[in-house]
Amino acid sequence: MTRPALPSNTPILSATDLAALDEAARILKAGGCVAVPTETVYGLACDATHAEAVAGVYEAKGRPSFNPLICHVDTIERARSLIALDSAGEQLADAFWPGPLTLVARRRTPSPVSDLAAAGLDSLAVRLPKSDALRALVAKLDAPLAAPSANASGTISPTTAQHVKDSLNGRIHLILDGGPCPVGVESTIVSLLEPGSPAILRPGGVAREALETVCGGLDHTEVTNHSAPTSPGQLTSHYAPNAHVRLNATGPQVGEAYLGFGAQPERDDLVFFNLSQKGDLVEAASNLFTGLRWLDSLSDRIAVAPIPETGLGEAINDRLRRAAAER
Ligand code: TXA
Ligand code: MG
Repeated sequence: MTRPALPSNTPILSATDLAALDEAARILKAGGCVAVPTETVYGLACDATHAEAVAGVYEAKGRPSFNPLICHVDTIERARSLIALDSAGEQLADAFWPGPLTLVARRRTPSPVSDLAAAGLDSLAVRLPKSDALRALVAKLDAPLAAPSANASGTISPTTAQHVKDSLNGRIHLILDGGPCPVGVESTIVSLLEPGSPAILRPGGVAREALETVCGGLDHTEVTNHSAPTSPGQLTSHYAPNAHVRLNATGPQVGEAYLGFGAQPERDDLVFFNLSQKGDLVEAASNLFTGLRWLDSLSDRIAVAPIPETGLGEAINDRLRRAAAER
């Protein structure tokens, strides 16, 4: 599926205009990305179930690595269909949704969310926002919308439509303008992964004190800084294959599975997954975690083809270097 072409001048339409919402839904269904106002910051939304659309968001942001993204939903039922909420999760959702709270929990399997949006993890971050526009779009698509903050990587999160335009003009399909964001900082992220002890991964729009009135004392585990070269053992929020990974391999050796890139003859004699036969880095990114997981399930040694260090290649290589690091 080819994604819609990017406009040279990204239009800004009103987030309360019904025709604009229809247009946004049309773009999202086709695999494009749309900046949408939320109560925290503007998000760059795409269909979370559509891996190439997700790759397009990373590309638009110029992210040098694949952080897992928050999936936005319109109802608590949809949240429950994506992650398992324990009793603390239900209480927090009841008290603060819709609102600036994100819950991280075990991802249900099978999951409609693409492996790329979840960065290959078994967990998933889910938020039910106050934003009418964002919830209406989730309902129109009948799918969760993945949305990181709508700014170029390494810059400040946008709280007006003009901030988004200044940062991403020509790199995204549409901006919906809902005025300035009332909260102005990102959502608070709470992990439910440790049963019975919810922990704050990122402080944000819901204060710790408010959370604690609902579920008692909270641990504080700072979310890993994904772009910093931490030792792989500490990368708790990154998917790591069990297999030994060998990079820049022009071909597999005996006993290795092969993660290919670009025009390569089909091989029946080995475990082979091609990230992109046509050498397209966006397509390769969309296949990365699915391919790695599949090879990892079948082999304990994976050789990886050289991948150019341009565009999304930088993020793909960042991820692969982490996968290849000694553990
Ligand atoms: O308010 C917000 O949260 C905004 C609006 C648009 O919803 N979104 C936002 O997204 O701030 P982003 O991508 O800029 O930050 C998401 C954070 C990242 O630090 C990421 O590592 C963390 O959420 N995250 C996502 N999934 C996770 C997971 N499964 N485990 C741990 N951390 C996760
Ligand atoms: Mg951000």
